[in-house]
Amino acid sequence: MTKRYTIIANWKMNPGTKQEALRLFKNVLKEKALLRKIHIIVCPPFLYISLLSLNKGKNMVSIGAQNISRLAEGPHTGEVSGSMIKSAGATHAIIGHSERRAMGETDEVIGEKMRQAMKSNLYAILAVGESEPGEDAHRILEEELKKALSGILLTDMKRILIAYEPRWAISKGKDDTGANSDTPEHAFEKAIFIRRILANLYNSSIAQKTPVLYGGSVRSKNISVFVNADSPFDGALVGGASLDAREFLELLRRIHIK
Ligand code: PGA
Repeated sequence: MTKRYTIIANWKMNPGTKQEALRLFKNVLKEKALLRKIHIIVCPPFLYISLLSLNKGKNMVSIGAQNISRLAEGPHTGEVSGSMIKSAGATHAIIGHSERRAMGETDEVIGEKMRQAMKSNLYAILAVGESEPGEDAHRILEEELKKALSGILLTDMKRILIAYEPRWAISKGKDDTGANSDTPEHAFEKAIFIRRILANLYNSSIAQKTPVLYGGSVRSKNISVFVNADSPFDGALVGGASLDAREFLELLRRIHIK
């Protein structure tokens, strides 16, 4: 069976206006043939979710949030709940991105967010990864996965995607060439390790079926290193390169589907 790769476009806190957001989105939608072959999940800032879902038409593209509140509702100024995200038209939410962890989000909070995402019937894109090169990545990954997945039932696992993102390889800027990304040897080994943890926590079928993506300085120049028929990854989480429609479409074109 042909594998359908998943590519997540994490726009982070960009672009500055809804007009620019719509323009970028419409440029991506132009490539209808690619959209049929690759599952693309565009994650704009919260405020643009409704706009993009209203403009997505019949295109096979999903919309995701970049964060979700750990709480369901109530007096929590500035928070955005899973149910709000869902009703704005998103189906996915990124949880535990390293830029949020750097703002103080703990593994426990990430676990609560994962459970909220499940309660709201969203797909969760769980980001995990060590902070510094040379750190004990296995120990960190195991801890992050165990805490984030605590209380996540086996039946919920079909709504979980995992992104391995070594933090030191993330967000080197829009003009980055991809030279800061992880090496395939190092990253592939982590994808296999993540599946081993999933097999221990659940079973081998969950370990195989859960999509595991690579994130961190993915560009059109290096996408084929991480996403190819021999790679253990099922796709990629793309930050900076998703903000330039031409670069992003080139990146998608370089994914060879057999
Ligand atoms: P980057 O971001 O592709 O700009 O490194 C990756 C991410 O959002 O995790």
